[in-house]
Amino acid sequence: MAEDFLPLNGTDYIEFYVGNAKQAAVFYQYAFGFELVAYAGPETGVRDRASYVLKQDKIRLVLTSSLVKDSEISEHVKKHGDGVKVLALWVDDAAKSFYETTSRGAEPASKPQTLKDEHGEVVVASIRTYGETLHTFVERKNYKGAFLPGFRAVKSNMKIEPLGLKYIDHCVGNVELGKMNQWVKFYEDVMGFKLLVTFDDEDISTEYSALMSKVVSNGNGYIKFPINEPAQGKKKSQIEEYLDFYHSAGVQHIAIATDDIIHTVGELRRRGVEFLNVPDVYYDDVMERVGKINESLEELKKLNILIDRDEEGYLLQIFTKPVQDRPTVFFEIIERNGAKSFGKGNFKALFESIEREQALRGNL
Ligand code: FE2
Repeated sequence: MAEDFLPLNGTDYIEFYVGNAKQAAVFYQYAFGFELVAYAGPETGVRDRASYVLKQDKIRLVLTSSLVKDSEISEHVKKHGDGVKVLALWVDDAAKSFYETTSRGAEPASKPQTLKDEHGEVVVASIRTYGETLHTFVERKNYKGAFLPGFRAVKSNMKIEPLGLKYIDHCVGNVELGKMNQWVKFYEDVMGFKLLVTFDDEDISTEYSALMSKVVSNGNGYIKFPINEPAQGKKKSQIEEYLDFYHSAGVQHIAIATDDIIHTVGELRRRGVEFLNVPDVYYDDVMERVGKINESLEELKKLNILIDRDEEGYLLQIFTKPVQDRPTVFFEIIERNGAKSFGKGNFKALFESIEREQALRGNL
């Protein structure tokens, strides 16, 4: 087998550009159980922005707001609303990652630079992907600080109760009609990813709307990026609704893994996180479809958690409603019990639920 020219150790961080990072940080601490670990802003010598770094197990979220009127961040928020700017990838050699990808056609966003402070050094470099989203390669093997040079380790006064979120399972992008294959090819040619699975509109169309999706994965399978595009339906696809409000391609959802979805989702609900609901009838015949599972069906039904099975096992999943006012980014919570797939058996029930929400917003 050819050597992987872009070995990836995992997701390093996900950075959101938001209107008010200070308040968003409280939401992710309280509702999702993340812990505030680092901060950069005027107090640390950064004049134009404030960034809060939140951590839970292997997951790092960065929330960044602009402090000035005209900046790349304020323009991003004006156009897209709160959204994902950076899907950062943890590598052993950021400069090599940058040159391997840009020499294969990736558009550079920022050249490799070495950031230093008293805790060591980090090398970062960024390339562009769909919409205005970036992939930043982060090489941190010579660094012992809280996040990156320029950030200060901080603690919050809030009492944080983690709820079992463990790592990023996959990050999904929505791209414009007709652009899915182009972006799949980008990940194949430029980043050395492989096409894992294809869903066409047969798999995932409802009476009204449809979408197509292909999943690409890197060599070791740590990074999985499904790419969606809208497909023709009777009414507006959920992907079109996203594109209308995000005003470009962008990250649609971030799936986070847990080992105990009943505990995690129970806690998320208790703290006010809203989820898409499927009707009770979903549970009437679900056991015939998925066979034996370890969890109690009653509990799953009470929390509205969905179940699916593939050749290798089963999975449990649930989707939040959008986490900002625009109907754009949302989260998935997933517990895998052997299954490596993405819940295809749930697509129809799920999309009917999304359409009910779209109709309530007047966007169907
Ligand atoms: Fe997903």
